[in-house]
Amino acid sequence: MTNIKDENIKRAWGLLEKTAQAYKPEWKDGIMEHARIVHDVSLFLARLFPKEAHVELDVLALGAILHDVGRSRAERVVEHGVKSGEIIRKQGFPEAAARIGETHMGVGITKEETTALGLPYRDFVPETLEERIVCYADNLLFYIPGEGRHELRDTDTVVERFTRELGEAYGRRSREFMEKIEHEIGPQGFRQFQKYINEFNRELPNRLEKNRGEK
Ligand SMILES: [Fe+2]
Repeated sequence: MTNIKDENIKRAWGLLEKTAQAYKPEWKDGIMEHARIVHDVSLFLARLFPKEAHVELDVLALGAILHDVGRSRAERVVEHGVKSGEIIRKQGFPEAAARIGETHMGVGITKEETTALGLPYRDFVPETLEERIVCYADNLLFYIPGEGRHELRDTDTVVERFTRELGEAYGRRSREFMEKIEHEIGPQGFRQFQKYINEFNRELPNRLEKNRGEK
């Protein structure tokens, strides 16, 4: 028997695929693969937090699936999170899932930073645990164009990238953001996560083949 939660998850995958197909069919496979990995990594990470953290798994899953739903509808890359939020909201998904979409860019965009970027004058900074988990997982996932595949990297790589692209201050902010999560899951959780990342990278080619075959 399917319940309302499963229905919502199914509807989210459908919305992601339909939106990409309608606006950027050539990006569809990449967007779907990226979302599948961010979803899996987010749910694995959620289990590493202490019970008292109370991660809302349904919201987390919906946000992870749909965080880039606006990617194919955004005229500029920098506004795709805002677009994702709009679409998630308009489709009647929980506000908390819409916020995951809105706040996942980099390690967040403050209200002050929105003016220079031409975004709505609001805060787009991940605050809730669910927002922070999706943002963290999304940052770790890199696409290697030459090899046509995704790979999970580490915090140093993320910080190096943001420092290069957005400057020293943003680099420091990203280190703080990434390391906060790692502190919260603790050394044992972090070791489990690293093991998961290594296995994931090893298994990735098979996994992606399998997903393609299931279509
Ligand atoms: Fe994104």
